[in-house]
Amino acid sequence: MNRLQGKAILIAGASANIGAATAIRLADEGAAVMLGARSTDRTGAIAARIREKGGRAETVCFDAADDASIAAMVAHAAQTFGGLDGMFVNMAELTLHKQDTDAVTVPLEVFDRAVAVNLRGHLLCARHVVPVLLERGGGSIVFTSSSAAFMGRDRGISYTVTKHALTALMRHVATSWGKQGIRSNIVSPGLVLSEKNRNHPEMDKVLANTPSPRLGEPEDLAAAVAMLMSPDGEWINGQILCVDGGVVMR
Ligand SMILES: NC(=O)c1ccc[n+]([C@@H]2O[C@H](COP(=O)([O-])OP(=O)(O)OC[C@H]3O[C@@H](n4cnc5c(N)ncnc54)[C@H](O)[C@@H]3O)[C@@H](O)[C@H]2O)c1
Repeated sequence: MNRLQGKAILIAGASANIGAATAIRLADEGAAVMLGARSTDRTGAIAARIREKGGRAETVCFDAADDASIAAMVAHAAQTFGGLDGMFVNMAELTLHKQDTDAVTVPLEVFDRAVAVNLRGHLLCARHVVPVLLERGGGSIVFTSSSAAFMGRDRGISYTVTKHALTALMRHVATSWGKQGIRSNIVSPGLVLSEKNRNHPEMDKVLANTPSPRLGEPEDLAAAVAMLMSPDGEWINGQILCVDGGVVMR
């Protein structure tokens, strides 16, 4: 499929797993991709792999907690490709798991850090990329939530709150700039077998509660994002696409 020929797409959080698989998939479908990450340690090799296959890929560094660095990342991507048609906002602070307890006991610095990266960082991406997409008459923004945001959970309050709040951000963007050609959607992964999840302690339990016969792979999310970036997703706006084997049905 060549659905993304001629498109330029920025991926924020492209160093591994879902972000890396998506960069590869978007490039395979013809897009020029800018791989954003905190360093180029891993994105450099992914971009090289894309270029070896004849695709166009560049790298840029950013810190999701820093407004100026997000502004610079978006500006660099637009300048490199002569504009942008889409952005996949995928980064999340995933190192807080043990401390991210419940509303009564969670340390406020843990909550604040989750908000800074998972929510404020996504807001900043929207803030900086919307004007750039409008210059081309619109485009597609996809944010990454989590099935955790749509279920009751007794821990992980910070992560869950930030992921749930993305729904409001995503729908605000869809509503505010939809008429100008901007589409804004969410992909919501279930348990995806990323590097660290391959030994997830609750893997068997999650699989037992998943209607589909397997857990997710990064490529499952990549396929969903590619559709939302492509003309096939042209009339999809303001939606949450649960890519989770049927765990969340809403
Ligand atoms: N893997 C899963 O099972 C699963 C399930 C639900 C949701 N998700 C979501 O999918 C997305 C990707 O997760 P993944 O599993 O591929 O893991 P991952 O660790 O590969 O992705 C997280 C990305 O965020 C980046 N990041 C973290 N803090 C950052 C910062 N301050 N500045 C810039 N980048 C920063 C990391 O470098 C990494 O690229 C995340 O939003 C995550 O919440 C994953």
